[in-house]
Amino acid sequence: MPRQNHKKPHLRRTFLGYQIYHYGAVSSTNDIAKEIARKNDEKRVIVVAETQTRGRGRAKRRWTSPKGGTWISILLRPQIKPKEVLKLTFITSSAATKTIQQLYDLRAEAKWPNDVLVRGKKICGILAETETKGDKLLFVVIGVGINSNIDMKFLPEELRQTATSLKHELGREVERKTLMKRFVRNFERRYKNLQRGMWAPLLDEWKSLTSFLGKQVKVTSFDEVIIGEAWDVEDDCSLIIRLENGAIKRIINGDLALIKKA
Ligand code: BTN
Repeated sequence: MPRQNHKKPHLRRTFLGYQIYHYGAVSSTNDIAKEIARKNDEKRVIVVAETQTRGRGRAKRRWTSPKGGTWISILLRPQIKPKEVLKLTFITSSAATKTIQQLYDLRAEAKWPNDVLVRGKKICGILAETETKGDKLLFVVIGVGINSNIDMKFLPEELRQTATSLKHELGREVERKTLMKRFVRNFERRYKNLQRGMWAPLLDEWKSLTSFLGKQVKVTSFDEVIIGEAWDVEDDCSLIIRLENGAIKRIINGDLALIKKA
């Protein structure tokens, strides 16, 4: 266990019923949130850090987390089945997309399953991790990384073509506190609706924030590459691809890329 994780947060306060733990450098805010979840029974916690030394993304990828970014994890104990956790990823993605549109007037969009893009480049990623006992969900940690005040030079070379930051898009820095507060408000509204059983309108909203449906896409799922038209996203968050021969393929996990027309 990295030593930084045992440090005390330098700030603790509450916001919208969440205990907020604010740290300097940590390994990963998701790890801290999990440690908190295992140690005590606090129901709603948000962990914020200035930097992460071992930030991670989906499929065990590294998530570069320099100072200036918005690195947060939300700890929740929802009454849902483990397989429904993707719904939380979707509402988080809608909340982040809406926040970027509302505060900065940028044309942010959601991309299946866990990205937020601006001008086709990734500006935010979401990593939901769970702890379960049998088929019971004990807790979920939703990690959200928003590239806010980050100069492109601090992102690895190989990401500069595919990622962007708010600072880069706007040509100025943003007020991160305002960003976080608006994001948490937007998340909370959707989370409440999810708990009230209003998944259908939440899924409709998420779809309305995307632009890949109806387009030719390439999806890499485990070792398989699937090419076809992004047909729909189903109630369980799976992606439906219509292959060239008309067959339908359902994908629950993978990476999606648009195929650019020649
Ligand atoms: C992805 O796009 O693959 C998901 C990236 C998630 C990054 C965030 S930053 C805060 C939280 N802590 C982590 O280690 N990862 C998530």
